[in-house]
Amino acid sequence: MDRNLALELIRVTEAAALACGRWVGKGDKMAADQAATEAMRRTLEAIDICGTVVIGEGEMDEAPMLYIGEKVGRGNGHEVDIAVDPLEGTNICSKGMNGSIATIALTTRGGFLHAPDMYMEKIAVGPSCKGVIDINLSPTENLRRIAEAKSCYIEDLTVVILDRPRHDKAVAEIRKAGARIHLISDGDVAPAIAAAVEGSGVDMLFGIGGAPEGVLAASALKCMGGDMHGRLVFMNNEERDRARQMGIDDFDKIYHCEDLAGGDVVFAATGVTNGDLLHGVRYYSGGAETHSVVMRSRSRTIRFIKSRHSFDFKPLY
Ligand code: FBP
Repeated sequence: MDRNLALELIRVTEAAALACGRWVGKGDKMAADQAATEAMRRTLEAIDICGTVVIGEGEMDEAPMLYIGEKVGRGNGHEVDIAVDPLEGTNICSKGMNGSIATIALTTRGGFLHAPDMYMEKIAVGPSCKGVIDINLSPTENLRRIAEAKSCYIEDLTVVILDRPRHDKAVAEIRKAGARIHLISDGDVAPAIAAAVEGSGVDMLFGIGGAPEGVLAASALKCMGGDMHGRLVFMNNEERDRARQMGIDDFDKIYHCEDLAGGDVVFAATGVTNGDLLHGVRYYSGGAETHSVVMRSRSRTIRFIKSRHSFDFKPLY
């Protein structure tokens, strides 16, 4: 995989963030998502890859662009599979709340789990806790193991969880165990990654969120040497049928980073609104500043990049 692709991907997430950044707080999540998707699609066109979207905006009949199976890129470079979420956290962007990002991951063909659009149970942690988590164990036991690995008290740990009734029991247990909880309204990709960033203030992402988002989080965690366990959550037989059609027949399988994001992975994300991981887009007279992260699994280099965009010279956005 050409390492320069990493910087190409930053252009893609920056473009998406700058486009939907104009919609922050405007209460129109569809328009924000559309702006990000169009910008991401357009910038992908300029890259020398032969890409296929495997995690995208939906099936071909429900998404006009970046749909599953769509070919992207100039069509003259590496054969790669692509996972995108042009705007992860549409609600938080439309309400101007913290934690939305534009994100993309790319791997060698066949590397990503073709995750159906359904729920996944997830635990994500950073490199210091690799190998200590177990999704089959209780939240309390996982916290005990994480605290031991980090040589700290459970009371020092912060767990990020989506604020949903389905998590009430886990939240009560985690509180009883003594850990701090940060409940979020949406957007569990960025906190999963933040768990692997020293000093981010996040120690673990826990709970049930989207399976496609699980693939994106695993892509980043693999590049960072972090760890993640995921297990699909089936709500009905229709979801089981859909999973079978996508090649999944073991419904109890526990997915690790490598199962979700195998191959030679490159991951990039740009903040749309402020969060634990990235600052949001900041506009000023004549331009804007973006804050992004880009990483590669082969080198494990993690780059945080602040970019200044001059609209007078590049009026694309
Ligand atoms: P959007 O698709 O609106 O960006 O929402 C993303 C998200 O909050 C994910 O981060 C999370 O994994 C999932 O939705 C949670 O789903 P639900 O809102 O159904 O609990």
